[in-house]
Amino acid sequence: MKHKILVINGPNLNLLGRRQPEIYGRTTLEDIYRGLCESFPDVDFEFFQSNSEGEIIDRLHAVGFDADLTGIVLNAGAYTHTSLAIADAIAGIDRPVVEVHLSNIFAREEIRHRSLIAPVCRGSISGFGTYSYNLAVQALITSKN
Ligand code: DQA
Repeated sequence: MKHKILVINGPNLNLLGRRQPEIYGRTTLEDIYRGLCESFPDVDFEFFQSNSEGEIIDRLHAVGFDADLTGIVLNAGAYTHTSLAIADAIAGIDRPVVEVHLSNIFAREEIRHRSLIAPVCRGSISGFGTYSYNLAVQALITSKN
């Protein structure tokens, strides 16, 4: 059966390519989407980006009990460090979520070292640039439970 994966990007990630390129590089979100489709031709991807916490939660609820969905790749941006509401949404659904970050959040300001969503995610990947997304997809399609 074909794997189905939802990739959610949170606040400010729509600006990738132009936003602080010294940290996040020159690759746009569209480039990341295209790269994932090329790297995983057998995966059926859905992509969603929102700057709004509530919309991210609504999206998690909408797909969170879909037995056909292999899982969700989530870059929650700065909500990673602040949003108990997104953490609760992840805890409340039954599809696995893999946390991703382009930058190594542990090598940055102290406020970014803490992830409120990490404890409720299947796992976390941080610091590999756009390749963090590839690793997260690979982890979802390979790991069990
Ligand atoms: C980020 C890291 C976060 O701390 C930051 O707020 C972002 C992007 C990353 O992908 O490296 O918006 O999630």
